[in-house]
Amino acid sequence: MIANLLQFGMERPAKLKDQDIEAIKKKIEDLRNNILYHDRKYYVEDNPEISDYEYDRLLRELKELEDVYPQLVTPDSPTQRVGGEPAEKFQTVEHMLPMLSLDNTYSNDELIEFDTRVKKGLEGEEPEYIVELKIDGLGVALIYENGLFIRGATRGDGTKGEEITQNLKTIRSIPLKIKVNGPALSYIEVRGEVFLTHQGFDRINAEREDRGEPLFANPRNAAAGSLRLLDPSITASRPLDIFIYNISYVRDSVFKTHFESLQTLKRLGFKTNPNTVFCRDLKEVMHYVEVWREKREELDYDVDGLVIKVNSLEQQKRLGSTTKHPRWAIAYKYQAEQAFTRIEEIIVQVGRTGSLTPVAILEPVRLAGSIIKRATLHNEDEIIRKDIRIGDTAVIEKGGEVIPKVLRVVNEKRKGNEVRFKMPERCPVCGAAVFRPEGEVVARCTGSACPAQLKERLHHFAARTAMDIDHLGPAIIDQLVEKNIVKDVADIYSLDLATLSGLERMAEKSAQNLLNAIDRSKDAGFLRLVYALGIRYVGERIAQIISQEYSSMDDLIKARREDLESIPEIGPRVAESIVVFFLQEENRRVLKKLKDAGVQMHSKREEKKGGLLEEKQFVLTGTLERFTRDQAKEIIKRLGGRVTSFVTKKTDYVVVGRDPGSKYDRAKELGITIIDEEGFIKLME
Ligand code: IVH
Repeated sequence: MIANLLQFGMERPAKLKDQDIEAIKKKIEDLRNNILYHDRKYYVEDNPEISDYEYDRLLRELKELEDVYPQLVTPDSPTQRVGGEPAEKFQTVEHMLPMLSLDNTYSNDELIEFDTRVKKGLEGEEPEYIVELKIDGLGVALIYENGLFIRGATRGDGTKGEEITQNLKTIRSIPLKIKVNGPALSYIEVRGEVFLTHQGFDRINAEREDRGEPLFANPRNAAAGSLRLLDPSITASRPLDIFIYNISYVRDSVFKTHFESLQTLKRLGFKTNPNTVFCRDLKEVMHYVEVWREKREELDYDVDGLVIKVNSLEQQKRLGSTTKHPRWAIAYKYQAEQAFTRIEEIIVQVGRTGSLTPVAILEPVRLAGSIIKRATLHNEDEIIRKDIRIGDTAVIEKGGEVIPKVLRVVNEKRKGNEVRFKMPERCPVCGAAVFRPEGEVVARCTGSACPAQLKERLHHFAARTAMDIDHLGPAIIDQLVEKNIVKDVADIYSLDLATLSGLERMAEKSAQNLLNAIDRSKDAGFLRLVYALGIRYVGERIAQIISQEYSSMDDLIKARREDLESIPEIGPRVAESIVVFFLQEENRRVLKKLKDAGVQMHSKREEKKGGLLEEKQFVLTGTLERFTRDQAKEIIKRLGGRVTSFVTKKTDYVVVGRDPGSKYDRAKELGITIIDEEGFIKLME
């Protein structure tokens, strides 16, 4: 047994000598530094050196060591990014220095006025400026003591904010540790803007749509909502990012210019925005104002303007601040572009899980450099709230989203013949009944053979993050479904060269490439397959959790609601959805077809069958002396067993520690084998 545990890096702590502890400390320290280095490469510099797989392996190794030696866990360990316990409420903290806001301008004339004010304040000296992008997110302050990230807070009212350290730790581009030498930087506060990329925002909203939850209106709201969640483990699942834009406090002033301080931030491992420029005068500033007016549309995050800052810190000091704004900086805000147009029609789009989304078909209009023909209306409640009718003149706006949105309609332009929208009772594609569960905002098509749903399912199945079938794009999916060649996702594995070459816009070479990609996808692996199935509420993260708990589709199909619910992070709704998915005859049939086609239905781990506790079900109750609960679970799992939360007739062993709960009584009632910790260790031997 000891040999077994050692193999997992799980030597029993009691037997360790001092020098062993030192060696383990060193190993842990090396792993942490290595992971932090790769965090920086990936999240800050966007220049990874190792694969995700290798990174995960390092993190897992560290986690395993820390599980066995919890006394060696430190707050700056990369394992501490995952979240931890939910908070009851946030503490209010006072900022070291007020977090002022910026004065706004919208025109060149106002910019000239700013420059004149600055020069007057500097008694005729010519200032140099730094121009930065104004990121549309949330301002935060981060404090580092002796190089360790110790506290972070929201801007709040500028004087006091909310302490959200745990949530901020989940943001990978925030370094938990920075290298400081000398006393000047031994206590620093930096400020920056937390934001979501458009891609991250779309992902969060797609998941919310699947769950029938109200959608976030824009990336900023989604970032704010994510940052202020009381449960940091949910924040950890949101792809938040940050740009640090200044050092607000240092023990001794060591820089002469803002530009120098930005370079120091970069050197320390903070993520600064790469589009910052140095300008010799206002003329150069104005040039950049024009450059970014349109160019900002190309970025994958929202930029609502530019920030113009006096470069010299000595000049900044001389200029000082009003109670609200610094006099040495100003924001040039770009107006969100809006356009007026007529809503010609409201159609309904069918999503992968049957969700029905109303979309406005617009009289084409130019907006922010492109011709807009449609705008999302989100859901029926939103249409009612804004009283949007077919025939209305609408104000549309392009925010961070790819598809623009309807802000409001112009009541004065109504002629009286506008028509109210009503969600159809039947799916516009397959004719099946439409159902909107109580308490949900999303209406759904109930047709199991709905071609629109099938197209979306195929699209999801083939996605890069799912089975990764390159070349299976929308044009091909449309033809495969419309020509009745593919009736479920498993049918793609029966496609042949002749059929594919017969499709429009499909040369033989491309057909062969697609076939190769389909064939390759059979080995995509269990995790990807679980995600690819498109089970409601099972996004990438849940799929990952599931694939850690279950190693084959056969096991997962057999999982009971309570087994699933006993897994941390899997709530009743997700558990219910998984169970219901596998109960459906149609889904079982498709899974069988996938299996017959040779799609890998289990994780590689399962191939090492024959574990000591194979197929055995355990329930743990009471406190164990030698293991934490997580360690005991891990050991059981590694030896092929399973740990569940409820004692049922299927339970093989109940392991009883100190102060056992009601599970102990239940085990006695059902006559299940009860063992104590010694018995548990013996069993493993
Ligand atoms: S400097 C005292 N730089 O815009 C000057 N702010 O009202 C402090 N923001 O609350 C702000 N990008 O959250 C600065 N490059 C940037 C910024 C930026 C976004 C936010 C910040 C602040 C608000 C200004």
